[in-house]
Amino acid sequence: MLVTGAAGQLGTELKRAAWPDDVSLVALSSAELDITSRGAVLDTVMRLRPSVIVNAAAYTAVDPAEDDEDQALLVNATAVGFLAEAADLADALLIHVSTDYVFDGSKSGWYLEADPIAPIGAYGRTKAAGEAAALTASRSVVLRTAWVYSAHGSNFVKTMLRLAGERRELGVVADQFGCPTSATDIADVVASLVCMLRTDRAAVLPRMLHVTAPDDASWHQFAMAVFQLAGVEEGLTVRELTTAEYPTRAARPANSRLDSSRLAALLGRTLPPWRVSLAKVIEELTAERGGPV
Ligand SMILES: NC(=O)c1ccc[n+]([C@@H]2O[C@H](COP(=O)([O-])OP(=O)(O)OC[C@H]3O[C@@H](n4cnc5c(N)ncnc54)[C@H](OP(=O)(O)O)[C@@H]3O)[C@@H](O)[C@H]2O)c1
Repeated sequence: MLVTGAAGQLGTELKRAAWPDDVSLVALSSAELDITSRGAVLDTVMRLRPSVIVNAAAYTAVDPAEDDEDQALLVNATAVGFLAEAADLADALLIHVSTDYVFDGSKSGWYLEADPIAPIGAYGRTKAAGEAAALTASRSVVLRTAWVYSAHGSNFVKTMLRLAGERRELGVVADQFGCPTSATDIADVVASLVCMLRTDRAAVLPRMLHVTAPDDASWHQFAMAVFQLAGVEEGLTVRELTTAEYPTRAARPANSRLDSSRLAALLGRTLPPWRVSLAKVIEELTAERGGPV
């Protein structure tokens, strides 16, 4: 099995996931495999002949993508086309990861896999193009996830903890809703899907799956849970901001709740509620620092 983008949040958790003994995992960072090089992608895949390629590589900087859309498109879509081509040549399954930001946020309920996509920012546009590129492979699955965090890399949880260490008052957006999802849980899903296919080679996976925690939050609610679980909420004032009060370079959907019941039906389980997974990540951060975060 080949994992690209191995040094990112998801890539790191994929390396740590529980794989059966006979799965040999080759996990390559951007320095080891730049997926925007068609030659490197084809050479690597034809040399390793993986039965599964998991693309955890992406240009994930949502605001910078607004001014760097060509580069984001190269990584998030053109390169995915190279992976799809390589997967077909090696007769491999391509598991590609996408985002809730392909939706515009105007739906009042939870987004289903079949809902029309209509990204409102450059990052979302490039990821939408990446979904299409991944689906050109004969055997591919797109996993849409959201609000990803882990003990490693850059993410909202670590930003909030840093800010709580620097200030006694901060404001967090309270009118955007999504499903905070731990990279560990996404990696577990990937491992479950791979194991499912190994036990039942005839199993057919849906081409599109939402892979998120089953419950939602606003960024403000998510931040409050981070502060409570880390034990840093005392004396901290966390104001609720509207999107208008916290302008960002890229527009973000107000509602990007993903309905993951298709995944639940496939696996016979949902992901843990986000607070449960968040508590584990906070524990991991606490253990790493040898004391309260
Ligand atoms: N983070 C989120 O909140 C979020 C939300 C929804 C969906 N997703 C999706 O989930 C997936 C995993 O995201 P993540 O949070 O794990 O992202 P991440 O931590 O930013 O990791 C992405 C990795 O991709 C690598 N990469 C970038 N350009 C590359 C290239 N040309 N060739 C090979 N590797 C390259 C990066 O390496 P360098 O650092 O060396 O460039 C980085 O290690 C992505 O598809 C992302 O779009 C993420």
